[in-house]
Amino acid sequence: MAAPANRERTNAMSTTLDFDITRNERPLPAVEREGILADPGWGRYFTDHMVTIRYAADRGWYDARLEPYGPLSLDPASQVLHYSQELFEGLKAYRQRDGSIVTFRPYMNAARMNRSAQRMAMPQIPEDLFVAALEHLVRADRDWVPSTEGHSLYLRPFMIATTRALGVNQPAQEYLFAVIASPSGSYYPRGVKPVSVWLSQDFTRAAAGGTGEAKTGGNYAASFAGQAQAVANGCDQVVWLDAVERRWVEEVGSMNLMFVYGSGAEARILTPALTGTLLPGVTRDSMLKLAPDLGVPVEEGRISVDEWQRGAESGEITEVFGCGTAAIISPVGHARGADRAFDIGTGEPGPISMRLREELIGIQYGTRPDPYGWVHPIA
Ligand SMILES: Cc1ncc(COP(=O)(O)O)c(C=O)c1O
Repeated sequence: MAAPANRERTNAMSTTLDFDITRNERPLPAVEREGILADPGWGRYFTDHMVTIRYAADRGWYDARLEPYGPLSLDPASQVLHYSQELFEGLKAYRQRDGSIVTFRPYMNAARMNRSAQRMAMPQIPEDLFVAALEHLVRADRDWVPSTEGHSLYLRPFMIATTRALGVNQPAQEYLFAVIASPSGSYYPRGVKPVSVWLSQDFTRAAAGGTGEAKTGGNYAASFAGQAQAVANGCDQVVWLDAVERRWVEEVGSMNLMFVYGSGAEARILTPALTGTLLPGVTRDSMLKLAPDLGVPVEEGRISVDEWQRGAESGEITEVFGCGTAAIISPVGHARGADRAFDIGTGEPGPISMRLREELIGIQYGTRPDPYGWVHPIA
C-alpha cells in the first residue's frame, strides 16, 4: 500500500508487506452490531476482524494478515507471559458527517510505539506498516465506526514477545504485532462533569530510568492498586506524584495534566514537563500547539502538590484538567490526599477546558478546520 504523505511521519523504513486478507464469514449480524453501537460502553465489544503481523530477528516483519477476530494461540512459555515484554498503543477512528472515517495523528502513535519498543528491547515497526495495519482494519470494519456524536472506534495496536524461552537474560527473538478495535461510547454521556482525584502518597507509577514513558502493560498493572485506593477514598482517579520526593505532580490516571492560571485574556497553562517518567500523550502534544493558537500560552514545567493547593485556594489556579485519547479533556474539580483536600474552580467545567475540548473534538470529527494536518483520512 502506498504510504500517504504525512508530515508527522518520522521513520523512513518503507512497507514492503502485502496483507493477506481473510474475511470473517460470520460477521456479527447488522442488527446486533447496531444494538452494540447504540450503547458501546468502553472496551467491551470487538469488531469482526483483527490484524496480525509476525516478526523474527532473522527475518524482520512478515506474514501480515487481516483475519477474523479471535483467540491467539500462544505457547505457555512465551516470554510475554512471564516477563511482560509487551507494549501497546491507543487511538481512535472518527466518523465524519459525510460518512467518511479518519484517525487522528496516527504517526505520533507509531513513533511512540517505537520509542516504547526501544525501552523494552523490542523491534521497531516501520511507521507506514503500523498505519497500513490500522487502515486495513478500519476499512474492513468500517460499519463498526459509530455515527453518534462523541462515539468513535478505539484502535488498540499491541506487540508481544512470543519466543518460547524462560531465560531472563535476553529479549525475545520473535514477536507478534496485532491491532484490534472496539467501539467506544462518549466518555461523558450525561455532559462533562469535573472528576475528583486522589493524591497518591503510597504508590508511584514511574521512577527515573524506569519505564514510565513507555506504553507497556506493566505500568498499568502496577497502577491498579493506586486507582483502587483512590476509589476507596471516594475519588474517581489517582494522581501520580514523582517517586523520589512524592511532591511533584506527574499524571492523573492515564491522562496528562494541565493547570490553568488566570482567566480570559490572561489565562495561561502549565503542564508537567516530560521528565522520562510521564507518558508523552498525543493529546498533550496537541494541546501544546492548539492552546497558544487560541491565545492561551502553555509552559512545560513542574508543580508541587503544595503549589497546586495554594494556587487553587487563592484562585490563581482557575482550572485543572486531564487530557488523553479516551476522555479528550477531563476537568478536575476536587483533589484529596491523606492530609489535605481542596477544590479547584467552581465545581463546573471551566471555560478554557471546554473551549480546548470543543476545538479538538471539532478537528477530530471534521466540524472545525484542521490547520495542523492532524486528521488522517482512512475510509
Ligand atoms: C499514563 C498515560 N498518560 C497519558 C496518556 C494520554 O496519552 P494520549 O493523549 O496519547 O492518549 C495515556 C493514554 O494513552 C496514558 O496511559
